[in-house]
Amino acid sequence: MSQPTIESILQEKRQFEPSPEFSQAARIGSLEAYEELYRKAAQDPAAFWAELAEQELYWFKKWDQVLDWQPPFAKWFVGGKTNISYNCLDRHLTTWRRNKAALIWEGEPGDSRTLTYAQLHREVCQIANVLKDLGVKKGDRVGIYMPMVPEAAIAMLACARIGAPHTVIFGGFSAEALKDRLQDAEAKLVITADGGFRKDKVVSLKPAVDQALADNAVPSVENVLVVQRTKAAIEMVSGRDHWWHELQAGASADCPAEEMDSEDMLFILYTSGTTGKPKGVVHTTAGYNLYTHMTYQWTFDAKDTDVYWCTADVGWITGHSYIVYGPLSNGATSLMYEGVPRPSNPGCFWDVIEKYGVNIFYTAPTAIRAFIKMGEEIPNSRDLSSLRILGTVGEPINPEAWMWYHRVIGGGRCPIVDTWWQTETGGFMITPLPGAIPTKPGSATKPFPGILADVVDLEGNSVGANEGGYLVVRHPWPSMMRTVYGNDERYRRTYWEHIPPQNGQYLYFAGDGARKDEDGYFWVMGRVDDVISVSGHRLGTMEIESALVSHPAVAEAAVVGRPDDLKGEEVFAFVTLEGHFEPSDDLKTELKQHVVNEIGAIARPGEIRFAEALPKTRSGKIIRRFLRNLASGESVAGDASTMEDQSVLEKLRQGS
Ligand code: WT7
Repeated sequence: MSQPTIESILQEKRQFEPSPEFSQAARIGSLEAYEELYRKAAQDPAAFWAELAEQELYWFKKWDQVLDWQPPFAKWFVGGKTNISYNCLDRHLTTWRRNKAALIWEGEPGDSRTLTYAQLHREVCQIANVLKDLGVKKGDRVGIYMPMVPEAAIAMLACARIGAPHTVIFGGFSAEALKDRLQDAEAKLVITADGGFRKDKVVSLKPAVDQALADNAVPSVENVLVVQRTKAAIEMVSGRDHWWHELQAGASADCPAEEMDSEDMLFILYTSGTTGKPKGVVHTTAGYNLYTHMTYQWTFDAKDTDVYWCTADVGWITGHSYIVYGPLSNGATSLMYEGVPRPSNPGCFWDVIEKYGVNIFYTAPTAIRAFIKMGEEIPNSRDLSSLRILGTVGEPINPEAWMWYHRVIGGGRCPIVDTWWQTETGGFMITPLPGAIPTKPGSATKPFPGILADVVDLEGNSVGANEGGYLVVRHPWPSMMRTVYGNDERYRRTYWEHIPPQNGQYLYFAGDGARKDEDGYFWVMGRVDDVISVSGHRLGTMEIESALVSHPAVAEAAVVGRPDDLKGEEVFAFVTLEGHFEPSDDLKTELKQHVVNEIGAIARPGEIRFAEALPKTRSGKIIRRFLRNLASGESVAGDASTMEDQSVLEKLRQGS
């Protein structure tokens, strides 16, 4: 039930049209309207985006040039001046939205808070002033390591307001992973909380910050701002650590938004790739603002009366683009929830929908699969009639999960938007527009207007209908990543050189395999590189291997994904030991914990298998294909004759 197979996709013939009432009320209300928009945008993408930028955003100063494309480096709205915090807050204050709910927050222990646009603006301004008082200047990076509380969004908007790029580090990452990211970004300040609530437990955060900063490991960090959430006893380092509420109380609520250059860095967000070190994906101000604004508006068919809920964590790109910036730029009401479904409260999501009358609900296939297992009586006993659009993101959704989502959660009436995109793309790339594009279970359908997506072979030629290939984008778009922080070469190599440019045309290489059917619908098949997806979280196998070999017992490690019913994939590690270490269950447990300490619980191996040797080619490359087969219990496919030592495979198969 995990990843869809080619066979199941080719057999998938079901198609769902939006109801006439839905389409009539929608912003983009017919396939013809979408096609017309798409055609217009494809003819002249720069003109298309310029028109929207003019209509949809506030500018302190208009741009001189829409697009400056020196492949693979793009600049959008060159010379323009704007501020995304202004677009998300200030401009709504002169309208009726001033007193509209901007953020609705539901805390895990049942506490809750609503912030109107005016209130959110006030708090953002205060915290922006706090940051300034602590010496944060335009261009300084700020690390944010927080639970899912409104202060996380406030912190991001406060940074954006004063032009200090944020780097949000998911609260589930370990102290070690936090340190790596703070070091790479050379953060000047860290915003955190004493802890948060997760699955009926209090989890701590501040101690991980202390550990990351110990021994002056991140010398750039001067101050730590701490939100009081759990009231757990924590240590406050005098001169370095400050309570958020204490400084906020004395801060002025007057803080005009800094006039930012279109191309000023807005944030860095670290993501896993095919090498050991996570990459800092860089996004800039204006293009990101415009693109997340438009994709939110059209894909979720934004209505001013909607309560919109995205269940992601703000530590991921989904939270950045579709909890904070996209919705708030549109003046929407965005709901944030601190909790997650768990055995003690399997219906908590449906309770939140019922309590707030949620209209748009956006979650991940891994969550949907977990709900299927818990049984439909749970959602059936709640009132979900407020829902009008459902969304999914993170990995390919298997058609059966799609059908369940549509029937049980959507009552058969809600269009499902299956949004394909990445940290690097900033916003939705391939997605239905719900009033216009009929959906097919398991397909992200068609590219957003202005996105010239294609499926190609390694030479960059389009492949035929239903032939597999690589997912690429043929033209720059406003919210594309600008570079890997501090490493232009890595950016070029990772995204622009797998497929050689043809006649000077560069193709953005997404790292996903896909096919396009006879109707031009995209079916994303999953990663084609050494990246695996565990519960929709992207993990580099090399990153986990590096973590394993940093343990004194480990000589060599190879990590692959094993298909898993709930998580999509699970981490499966093959490990060879240093001479004087003996395989044991205790050592397995220790190694699993070691990975948790190095990266975080999301990377904990589901299984570790000790091996005497790993299968390698004569040139010494680990043959992961064999390991993937072994991990999933399949027979080892393909030609093993290139293998250095044939007996290695046999031993691995029998391994412990
Ligand atoms: C990778 C990006 C973008 C937000 C969440 C993940 C996979 C994402 C879909 C989808 C099939 C999907 C791809 C992509 N992916 N959405 N709707 N259908 N696959 O962001 O951590 O940057 O991961 O997630 O493999 O490359 P991310």
